[in-house]
Amino acid sequence: MGYENLLLKKEGNICILTINRPKALNALNSKVLEELSDAVDQIENDKDIHVVIITGEGKAFVAGADILEMKDMTPETARKFAKQGLEVFRKIELMEKVVIAAVNGFALGGGCELAMCCDIRIASEKAKFGQPEVGLGITPGFAGTQRLSRLVGIAKAKELIFTGDMIDANEAERIGLANKVVKADELMNTAIELAKNIASKGQIAVKYSKIAINRGFETDIETGMETERNLFSLCFATYDQKEGMTAFIEKRKPEFKNQ
Ligand code: CAA
Repeated sequence: MGYENLLLKKEGNICILTINRPKALNALNSKVLEELSDAVDQIENDKDIHVVIITGEGKAFVAGADILEMKDMTPETARKFAKQGLEVFRKIELMEKVVIAAVNGFALGGGCELAMCCDIRIASEKAKFGQPEVGLGITPGFAGTQRLSRLVGIAKAKELIFTGDMIDANEAERIGLANKVVKADELMNTAIELAKNIASKGQIAVKYSKIAINRGFETDIETGMETERNLFSLCFATYDQKEGMTAFIEKRKPEFKNQ
């Protein structure tokens, strides 16, 4: 499928997915969300892709859900729109590949929510984060009220959501919303280096680790530990476990086959 609003680029085992609607600061309308959902399915099914980087074209990462499209929505159409956004972001969160957000600029509303469903956020020093929805008379709609408090704690999440204030990249890093802040011209290289590092490891182990972390975060610790134990033991049925440990003993680099 060719996309109107997305660019997909493969570099080895890494895929760079760029939201490409710069005239509207990459605002998410239903068409962008539909394309994003399709692209995520395509990437998930591509065994050669190990790590995904999501970024935005131009000066924004994503400046939110599309206000023009939302303006005349009814409660029913808004509910449908929210479902579409919630589903695609959840799909990204649960992808069996690591997803890195390279936050190049404004990550507001739906844009902050998109960054938050990714596994890791690298921010350019030019990035700005926020959930400005209350200033438009609405709540966050793509799980901002849920993921922000889980990431930064309930008190900071309430402050950010109740005020709608934007914070800069350094503040985002300080509160744990961004993993790291880098100079604007180093953003993509930093994200790619991180992606290559992750892609060089045993991908089954990375995938199982992601599942264990996500499931454990959403449940009690006993259930989480049981999930980890199951996945840990499953690793011992893989080629990669034998190769990884043999390579260590033979003092050489492992050659993983991701099987
Ligand atoms: N929806 C639709 N269009 C948007 C948009 C959005 N969220 N954000 C920016 N645009 C458009 C602007 O309307 C403008 O279009 P025109 O050139 O046709 O006028 C273009 O993008 C450039 O934007 P600005 O001229 O405003 O650029 P700026 O540099 O002066 O300001 C900004 C940048 C501070 C990010 C400002 O654009 C802004 O405040 N945008 C809206 C941010 C926002 O409120 N986001 C939350 C949306 S609600 C949401 O996301 C709900 C949810 O959780 C699902």
